[in-house]
Amino acid sequence: MFKPAERLATLPTPATIAMAARARELKAQGKPVISLALGEPDFPSPNAALEGAVAEVRAGHTGYPPIPGQKPLLEAIAAKFKRDNGLDVSLEQLMVCNGGKQAIFNAFMASLNEGDEVVVPAPYWVSYPLIARMFGGVPVEVPCREEDGFRPQAEAIRAAITLRTRWLVLNFPNNPTGAILERADLEAIAAVLRDAPHVMVMSDEIYEHLTFDGKAHLSLLNVAPDLAERVLIINGMSKAYAMTGWRVGFACGPVPLIKAMIKVQGNATSGICTLAQGGAAAALREDMAGVQAMRATYERRRGVVVGALQQITGLSCAMPQGAFYAYPGLSALMGMHSAGGRLLKDDVAFAEALLEEAHIATVPGSAFGYGPHLRLSFAAADAELAEACERLKDFVAGIKG
Ligand SMILES: Cc1ncc(COP(=O)(O)O)c(C=O)c1O
Repeated sequence: MFKPAERLATLPTPATIAMAARARELKAQGKPVISLALGEPDFPSPNAALEGAVAEVRAGHTGYPPIPGQKPLLEAIAAKFKRDNGLDVSLEQLMVCNGGKQAIFNAFMASLNEGDEVVVPAPYWVSYPLIARMFGGVPVEVPCREEDGFRPQAEAIRAAITLRTRWLVLNFPNNPTGAILERADLEAIAAVLRDAPHVMVMSDEIYEHLTFDGKAHLSLLNVAPDLAERVLIINGMSKAYAMTGWRVGFACGPVPLIKAMIKVQGNATSGICTLAQGGAAAALREDMAGVQAMRATYERRRGVVVGALQQITGLSCAMPQGAFYAYPGLSALMGMHSAGGRLLKDDVAFAEALLEEAHIATVPGSAFGYGPHLRLSFAAADAELAEACERLKDFVAGIKG
């Protein structure tokens, strides 16, 4: 009889998995399900990526790739760091992974010992605490406050750091809140880090190009270059380039850490698919017009969706400054009943009722360590978003004590 390893047995199954399975079931029954649950762009991948992948095959590059990544892609990534972040990085500081997710996996596997603490501001993308736990890490949550725009406060980070802290995870623009960090936030966090020289920083900047209201993403290393020996930047092609299925992510960090991560990857997946690397290199070498056009579309949709949510009595919704999610709060509706008679005891119950009764798939905020909220992706077609907002309005209007 199969028995999972202990490191898996103690891992919780995210509510999102059950929700996605139920959404698929309802769809298969012919129900008009609108899915705003996934963090996936609804655009096709750039033409340059397609051409780049084809060129790779035609050139006969179909053998095992080097584990850290193919040189043309590593060079394109180094050029990207210079162009987008003003950072000079050497190829030894870089590696290509099977999505940003594998970069995170590599980093935690390469660095965590049993009981090491990983400080994660909440709300957070679900994978940081789950992956950390797989390697004996202990996630330590730092709740951000809505009134602070979901930005972590430096003093709260300071209070969470102990001698066992190995990592601080920063993910801005943030999934799920869309919060971004300003220069003053980063300076305050850098000051805390200078007092804690044993702490490494994982800075997940995968949404860096998706910022709104004319704001630009700032990297921790832009304000604190002295921390370069301790900062690992995670990034990838999935979000800004609409290349989720290509599975190309990358990491940039201190050479000893990158070497250890390469060791991990060499024993797991080896180098990333050559075609995908060719496509990613070509997309990165393009000018930013395509990315900017998608960004502008997300900004327009943000206005439509968040504007509609703000009109719904019972929901409270801040305007996200980046990424492509709205994150309305549900506290005014907790403990009430849906029109279909379901008790809305928490945000999981709310998301389930919304799926069953209004056929909208979302993710409850508690999956991100911060409820009662709901995450709705606005990386979906305009007509779907408009229909979803209408249904949500009717659903909330039907809620009673
Ligand atoms: C914050 C964040 N980081 C990393 C990833 C990983 O993306 P991928 O593995 O597709 O590169 C995601 C995907 O949802 C994300 O939201």
